[in-house]
Amino acid sequence: MLTGKTALITGGARGIGFAIAEAYLQNGAQVVVADLSAAAVDQAVAQLGAGARGVVMDVARQDSIDAAVAAAGPVDILVNNAGVYDLAPITDITRASYDKLFAVNVAGTLFTLQAVARQMIARGQGGKIIKLSSQAGRRGEPLGAVYCATKAAVISLTQSAGLDLIRHKINVNAIAPGVIESDMWTHVDALFAAAEGLPIGEKKRQVGAAVPFGRMGVPSDIAGMAVFLASPASDYVVAQCFGVDGGNWMA
Ligand SMILES: NC(=O)c1ccc[n+]([C@@H]2O[C@H](COP(=O)([O-])OP(=O)(O)OC[C@H]3O[C@@H](n4cnc5c(N)ncnc54)[C@H](O)[C@@H]3O)[C@@H](O)[C@H]2O)c1
Repeated sequence: MLTGKTALITGGARGIGFAIAEAYLQNGAQVVVADLSAAAVDQAVAQLGAGARGVVMDVARQDSIDAAVAAAGPVDILVNNAGVYDLAPITDITRASYDKLFAVNVAGTLFTLQAVARQMIARGQGGKIIKLSSQAGRRGEPLGAVYCATKAAVISLTQSAGLDLIRHKINVNAIAPGVIESDMWTHVDALFAAAEGLPIGEKKRQVGAAVPFGRMGVPSDIAGMAVFLASPASDYVVAQCFGVDGGNWMA
């Protein structure tokens, strides 16, 4: 389905980004895994095997975006996946946490998209850009104001970039996962344990039990939608955000 295509996946060394890299390789694409640490990138590339290469990238820094996009070379597919989480009640939100989340989840997403879109436009062959939003971008959460706001911004950027870039045959769409078992959710669980006085693992158990499908998601649950949005089957799909959440948001 993706034969001959090259995909750049930010935050691709683990979790959802890694599962998307695996699925793209299975569908015939080449992948470039971009992540913060050389060790994590090297390990992911070794695990992924033939067709994968890596680049060190911090999406929060423009010089790093420029260098990584140049090193990746021509790409047909960008997955804007790198993201970070934090929580606090409104009265305890710090500037540092706000700045970090917006730098990675919003500015990182926009300026990586911009760098790749410029290159796609110059090549004149169109492209596919897939952004990772969240169910959190479609609602408020008492302890998640800043994360929710960043993921709402990702949906908004998907809408505007989708409308601006489709004249270049670049499709921009987003995925809104629900609760997905990953290192991020282990971090989320620990933060909730501290904030709500819960034992470690209890928040995961609670959120998993509440999913209509009957369990938390796993990273590979997201991969099918990411393959569809990278493939010609989605050519007429523009500026949308799709929930992949076992029914969680609808419930
Ligand atoms: N896990 C969930 O339940 C869930 C739900 C909804 C949305 N999401 C979103 O999906 C995406 C992936 O989530 P995940 O659960 O796989 O997270 P994860 O923490 O397991 O993986 C995120 C990856 O991004 C990388 N990263 C972080 N900051 C970076 C930066 N500045 N530059 C480059 N790479 C960076 C990390 O090193 C890591 O490899 C995120 O955008 C997240 O917000 C996750």
